[in-house]
Amino acid sequence: MKEKKTKSFYRCLECGYESVKWLGKCPSCGSWNSFEETVPVAIRHSPMLIPGKNATPPEAQPLNAISMESERRICTPMLEWDRVLGGGLVPGSLVLLAGDPGMGKSTLLLQVLASLSTRQKVLYVSGEESRRQIKLRANRLGVGDAEVLVASETTLEAILELISAHEIEVVAIDSIQTIASSLLDATTGTITQIRHCTDRLLQMAKTQGVTVIIVGHVTKEGIVAGPKALEHLVDVVLYLEGDRTHTFRLLRSVKNRYGSTNEIGVFEMKDRGLEEVRNPSQMFLAERPIDAPGSVVMATIEGTRPLLVEIQALVSYSALAVPRRTATGFDANRASLLMAVLEKRLGISFAQEDVFINVAGGIKLREPAADMAVCLALMSSYFDRPLPHQLVTWGEVGLTGEVRAVGYSDVRYQEAIRLGFNKVMVPATTAEQLKKEVKPRSAVEIVTVKSLKDVLNNLFK
Ligand SMILES: Nc1ncnc2c1ncn2[C@@H]1O[C@H](COP(=O)(O)OP(=O)(O)O)[C@@H](O)[C@H]1O
Ligand SMILES: [Mg+2]
Repeated sequence: MKEKKTKSFYRCLECGYESVKWLGKCPSCGSWNSFEETVPVAIRHSPMLIPGKNATPPEAQPLNAISMESERRICTPMLEWDRVLGGGLVPGSLVLLAGDPGMGKSTLLLQVLASLSTRQKVLYVSGEESRRQIKLRANRLGVGDAEVLVASETTLEAILELISAHEIEVVAIDSIQTIASSLLDATTGTITQIRHCTDRLLQMAKTQGVTVIIVGHVTKEGIVAGPKALEHLVDVVLYLEGDRTHTFRLLRSVKNRYGSTNEIGVFEMKDRGLEEVRNPSQMFLAERPIDAPGSVVMATIEGTRPLLVEIQALVSYSALAVPRRTATGFDANRASLLMAVLEKRLGISFAQEDVFINVAGGIKLREPAADMAVCLALMSSYFDRPLPHQLVTWGEVGLTGEVRAVGYSDVRYQEAIRLGFNKVMVPATTAEQLKKEVKPRSAVEIVTVKSLKDVLNNLFK
């Protein structure tokens, strides 16, 4: 009898939509050119089928009977790394470290493994670099003598064998896109391979208690290849982000089964690797100009951490029929909206002006609390009048020009005071909240505003 041929199908790399035919555009998520041929995977590894290991019948327990002895964590001297993980790596967990190429993922992992190697058996597997290249990098990072086992491997089975042969406790795989299982016919880097390898690594992590960190490259569109397929498999998803032209990097947790996803770690890329930044606000304000129109400091929140950043605006006469509008680190649509509000409510016209907005240091502001600062910077540049050097602001701006309170005002306030600022411009409701909650010192002037008109009257009249 003729053997039944396994039929391949096509799957969208962005959303996982499946189709029997190749499609140019995904009907589900609308992305172009995202379909890839996939072979149905025949081998399933269910943990219940491992002989001898899961022979006991399944169990359920009342919540109040589950013992809560504290979870063991694998800690490093790198506090920022541990913080983002919720207090260190959990033994037997699978962590995905994602980021653009060149962000410093390999650097960070090598540093983390080196610091763990005094107490743990650690293995660094690279599918991209040779052992010599890794040694060169380790020397540069000053960890060339660390007891990190290093392998240059691309076959999953070989990696699994290395892990059990050396009784490895923490393994880093750099990157998941470069390794492949010899059991599958699919090419390296395809969604089928990536999913299968991650699945097998997960099984190993859970059954043998090995902690696995996998690196995932981010595609052009800004998503980890095989996004949905990978992110739901792993326990923790970390993103290392930053601006290629700046040295600072943010480590952000977007999923964490063992802790909050609100934590961020701040690092700076130096010759000797990633260095922790304990006082990020100070770093971002280090080069702030004095008495320069268009510059303002805002207190933003990254995760649960307050961060003071400088926002700059440049409003200058345009000879172009369609004036330019550029925003770096701030949403351009939001900037247009704020300019429209300024024009309608205060009569500040940008019709003949080029407008540039920049957040210093390469930070990306995603919260509406930045509205006030952007408006202040625009007004300051428009009137060519510098703002008080010791002023910090935050608040959302509505379509009628009203200003609104945002969350975490107490933390923002305390960070501003800690760095020596003594003038705070906030929405009226925030001022009341601050008076109740943090009892501002008398040396600190709190300027209360209800609308952009109040801002104009207070600072520019
Ligand atoms: N010889 C070097 N001296 C200083 N910095 C370097 C050197 N080589 C690489 N780097 C820094 O390391 C970064 C690459 O880090 P890497 O860990 O390889 O990134 P990833 O693994 O995320 O692609 C570069 O962007 C650069 O900033
Ligand atoms: Mg790398």
